[in-house]
Amino acid sequence: MSVKAVFVLLVPLFGLAIAQREPSLEVMSALKELQPRYREIQDYAINQLTEARLNSSQVIFNFHTDVLTSKDQYVRNTIEEELGVLMILDRQPETVDRACLGFVRSSVDMNVNLVGVSYTNCIVRVDDSLAGIVSEFYKTIQQDESQYTGSGLFGVFRGENIFYAPAELMKKLSEKLEELRENPTFIATELFDMIVEFEQELKEVKTGYDECLEGGMQLLRSVLEIARTQVAQVCLGQLEEPIPTTTVAALIESALRSTEI
Ligand SMILES: *[C@@H]1O[C@H](CO)[C@@H](O)[C@H](O)[C@H]1NC(C)=O
Repeated sequence: MSVKAVFVLLVPLFGLAIAQREPSLEVMSALKELQPRYREIQDYAINQLTEARLNSSQVIFNFHTDVLTSKDQYVRNTIEEELGVLMILDRQPETVDRACLGFVRSSVDMNVNLVGVSYTNCIVRVDDSLAGIVSEFYKTIQQDESQYTGSGLFGVFRGENIFYAPAELMKKLSEKLEELRENPTFIATELFDMIVEFEQELKEVKTGYDECLEGGMQLLRSVLEIARTQVAQVCLGQLEEPIPTTTVAALIESALRSTEI
């Protein structure tokens, strides 16, 4: 038999083998068509998640600002309240018992230190709450992210055989393609809701913080009120400052006079 004859005989057999395995090759084509969708969807999801992360950063920044504004305000108010009593102590006449005034002064000082302790407790509580809320938020974001990082493409092969039953694989692949035709736009809505909730939770923490600061401040105010009473009743000092009263009286008088004219 010549070489030519063998070749002529083999070609149809080869062609037959190819034709018989055509469905297996179609599976590979379908898979290649599906592959870019995984990337597109992953890109889409990552963009959405990145936007959510950036928004959360803004939310945390706003929260920090709000907390610091509150703290600043309470620290300043505390100093002012203390100053009110210190001025009363400072302007007592020589005749008032110095030791007695000294005891009141120490008591005021001690109580301002105590309100410092409660302010610290307040902000430590905020720090703990923030850490918890942030870690919960990022855990959810992380879960969403791993859900769209291309897993599942090769999963279609589980329990299948590309040569024995390619039709089964084709069916799975076309289902997958159908399933992945649209971008998962619902994650945008989901993330938006998550950010809103995140912001809401932090707002509640801020409200709790203000209440905590106010609690400390109220306590200090009542202590300072007692200190004033002690200046008057125990040390037999004076609470009223005479100068502003006369100033006010003078102002009223001049105002009345000018309206008469
Ligand atoms: C992020 O903030 C922008 C601008 O405020 C907003 O348009 C977008 O919907 C927000 N996205 C999410 C996921 O919260």
